[in-house]
Amino acid sequence: MNTAIAHTNIALIKYWGKQDEQLRLPLMSSLSMTLDAFYTDTSIEFADEDKFYLNGTLQTDASAQRVFTYIHKLQALLNLRPESVVIKSVNHVPTAAGLASSSSAFAALAGAFNRLYKLDLNHKQLSILARIGSGSASRSIFGGFSIWKKGVTSDDSFAYPIDENPTMDLHLLAIELDTKPKSLSSTEGMKLAKTSPFFNHWLEANDSELDAMISAINNNDFTALGELAEYNANEMHAINLSAKPGFTYFVPETLKAIELIHTLRKNGIECYYTIDAGPNVKVLCQLKNVKDIQKYFVSEFNNVKIVSASFGPGISYLD
Ligand code: DP6
Repeated sequence: MNTAIAHTNIALIKYWGKQDEQLRLPLMSSLSMTLDAFYTDTSIEFADEDKFYLNGTLQTDASAQRVFTYIHKLQALLNLRPESVVIKSVNHVPTAAGLASSSSAFAALAGAFNRLYKLDLNHKQLSILARIGSGSASRSIFGGFSIWKKGVTSDDSFAYPIDENPTMDLHLLAIELDTKPKSLSSTEGMKLAKTSPFFNHWLEANDSELDAMISAINNNDFTALGELAEYNANEMHAINLSAKPGFTYFVPETLKAIELIHTLRKNGIECYYTIDAGPNVKVLCQLKNVKDIQKYFVSEFNNVKIVSASFGPGISYLD
């Protein structure tokens, strides 16, 4: 069995815009935190026919097509024999579903592919392969905090770790407000976002925001990290609203959650939010406030599911 395990990551400085769609080369650098609570394990074997099982169920929809397009692309890129494969993936996402991510999925798939063909790739090479499946997957090769430098060509657009075992007191609460599939894929959302008149500002601010986030991490400054992560997420969602046509991933509960975070902050419970291409909110906080924040969300939202996470590890293999 060629099995790899990769954890999801949450971007604190976000990737939102591509310069090359086929190779998934980004227009900006991004920085993320790998999470312990959510991961994917994926096994791959040669077979007579391409088959993709997710959580034990054979997939025949667009997700299977995306996976096999990816496998065939890697086989062509690396001049490998175009053999058929059976892929079995399990998403380990605690009951709060809707938080599964393509980052862990494509990082684990790249790792399993590496084993199948005995490529013996290093982490940098794996990050490049994972990126070709899904941009954010490039960062899930590493644990702790990692940076994906945008690069200019496929060979120099990869992630690397800044600190794989951070000691920072940083926790994430994934608040599941809505379980419906997202209205617009990240790939499509990014394309539309480029039509915003503010998109250029988004790109121009990237270097200084990345530097400021690295400083916050190096200085162990939770406040600076939280403020900047929240600001960066707001910029991304503002670009979506101001695209032509404008769109948003927010639902009414998303705004209600943002308001609650503002109230908690005013009342001395320090916390910040970040939001990806979906309606669910992720709260950044310190350990001492985890229980209180959970309590407030439970009392304000009916049947809300909350999963608490902290730093997770990089890719590993089951042998
Ligand atoms: C908002 O990595 O899912 O989560 O490369 O098109 O597969 P594709 O996009 P994907 O986009 C992630 C977008 C984001 C921000 C981030 O993780 O950096």
